[in-house]
Amino acid sequence: MDLMNALYGRRSVRDYLDEPVDRQTLALLLDAAVQAPTAMHREQWAFVVVSGRGRLAEWSDRIKALALGGEAPAPDAHGPAALLADPAFNVFYNAPHLVAVCATEPGIMSVQTCCLAAENLMLAAHGQGLGTCWIGFAEGWLATPEGRAALALPDGWDCVAPIILGRPRAMPAAPGRKPALTRYIGD
Ligand SMILES: Cc1cc2nc3c(=O)[nH]c(=O)nc-3n(C[C@H](O)[C@H](O)[C@H](O)COP(=O)(O)O)c2cc1C
Repeated sequence: MDLMNALYGRRSVRDYLDEPVDRQTLALLLDAAVQAPTAMHREQWAFVVVSGRGRLAEWSDRIKALALGGEAPAPDAHGPAALLADPAFNVFYNAPHLVAVCATEPGIMSVQTCCLAAENLMLAAHGQGLGTCWIGFAEGWLATPEGRAALALPDGWDCVAPIILGRPRAMPAAPGRKPALTRYIGD
């Protein structure tokens, strides 16, 4: 796929077929992810691949319950209470996989490095005809002891980017963008 087509064509997918992604394809995507720039070439990333709609649906229920109960930090950008209260709403949109991109070292540069790996992963998935969506909704719970245990995170690892992955049932329309807010300094 042409790079510009990939950049313009990738969408956050919220409707998935019940089809797992095979291990070979998962490995290909993770290999593409680790081609991203990495601060001081420390490659301070790790990937936890969670499979199974049932497991993710259980986690979704925990995330919603904790967010509504105020026990976990409420997700900020996508957390209308009505949506969280809807029993049919699954924060993972019934995707077959969640890839947790994790920082293996503390500090902002590890977070930045993981975000770049996450974008590579999302673009590579799009190139393979797969869909992804970053699930900020899940971040609060994944940082709790319960969420960390669910991801089997060793001490020192923190989930930076929870990315769902699967074969899209439907591709959403492009939501569009504001023009890039730009200032030029110099010629
Ligand atoms: C940090 C971050 C957190 C996000 N969290 C969620 C989320 O919890 N649920 C969701 O449906 N989309 C989430 N998204 C996806 C955005 O809503 C989406 O990228 C945006 O609407 C633009 O759409 P596009 O990705 O199709 O271009 C998140 C994106 C980012 C970068």
